Amino acid sequence: PETIETLGKLLRDGGLVAIPTETVYGLGANGLDSEAMSRIYEAKGRPSDNPLILHVPDMAAAKPLVKSLTPTAQRLMERFWPGPLTITLPKADCVPDRATGGLPRVALRCPDHDLCRAVLTAAGVPVAAPSANISGRPSPTTADAVYDDMKGRIDAILDAGTCDIGVESTVVECGDDEVTILRPGGITEQMLLEVVSKVNYDTALSSPTAVPKAPGMKYRHYAPSAQVYVVDQAETFAKLDLDVSCGVMATSDLLENLPVPEENKFNLGKNLTEADHNLFAGLRYFDDRPEIKSIYVESFDQGEESLAYMNRLNKAAGGHHV
Ligand code: TXA
Ligand code: MG
Repeated sequence: PETIETLGKLLRDGGLVAIPTETVYGLGANGLDSEAMSRIYEAKGRPSDNPLILHVPDMAAAKPLVKSLTPTAQRLMERFWPGPLTITLPKADCVPDRATGGLPRVALRCPDHDLCRAVLTAAGVPVAAPSANISGRPSPTTADAVYDDMKGRIDAILDAGTCDIGVESTVVECGDDEVTILRPGGITEQMLLEVVSKVNYDTALSSPTAVPKAPGMKYRHYAPSAQVYVVDQAETFAKLDLDVSCGVMATSDLLENLPVPEENKFNLGKNLTEADHNLFAGLRYFDDRPEIKSIYVESFDQGEESLAYMNRLNKAAGGHHV
């Protein structure tokens, strides 16, 4: 309890604290303090037009941050919070432009993580928190990964082990009885349809030339230093000319039969859920191995269930497929 109070005070007073969530680790700062948020951009090397998500412990804490908590927003929060759904709504005047990158909407999220929410409650202010990686690097799913990127740049890291989900939250723009998905995540179209009549997708998710409504989606992301290739068909793995400079990320059954040294294999697990959980750790595993020049990664074709995984993987690969 003392640690939680200490971290809450550190956040309130303008410090930078990395916090665990159920998706990935976040780099937290006081979301009402522009100077504190500027330090997030500095620590991450983040482009200044890319807005931050404000994290709150509950719906009541979200209310003062928006112009109006509309019935649709309330229904979404009641159904999916705490959980991996980030909701954008027209911002209240008290939210600094620094939090929204000058946009008229603010993004809000309530993580499904008890320790995280305890820190948010102790802070007593909304906590702005992007993923706690250097901009462009894979998001961190362990405290060690945060430390690798952020050592010497921030005040504290709260180590709560490995994040459950492993890919970031679904980001939706909240309309009147409809939402638009700006970034796919664990909360899928089908789940959202339990609460709203219509679910749209930001056109930028399918068109490479459209400007995304979530500014962060336009950057090449999640990319390690080796070239990543999406392997479209599982059969292709056996036909690849794999040498010692190649890393492979695939599910256990596929990996087993490949003629690749064990240390060049990264096991994504048994299924899509485990692959979500392990994707960023795998990209970081090969990043620590400068002799690895290319990384071949299994793709999943499970409709909207695999959208979040494929969105992150395609970004890491910068469009390279085999
Ligand atoms: O799961 C998550 O969402 C994690 C954990 C730490 O909560 N956070 C996270 O934050 O992924 P970040 O900053 O790495 O990604 C936030 C995304 C970016 O693409 C950003 O452009 C978008 O959300 N975003 C934030 N505020 C927005 C706004 N007002 N309008 C549109 N997009 C917004
Ligand atoms: Mg991020």
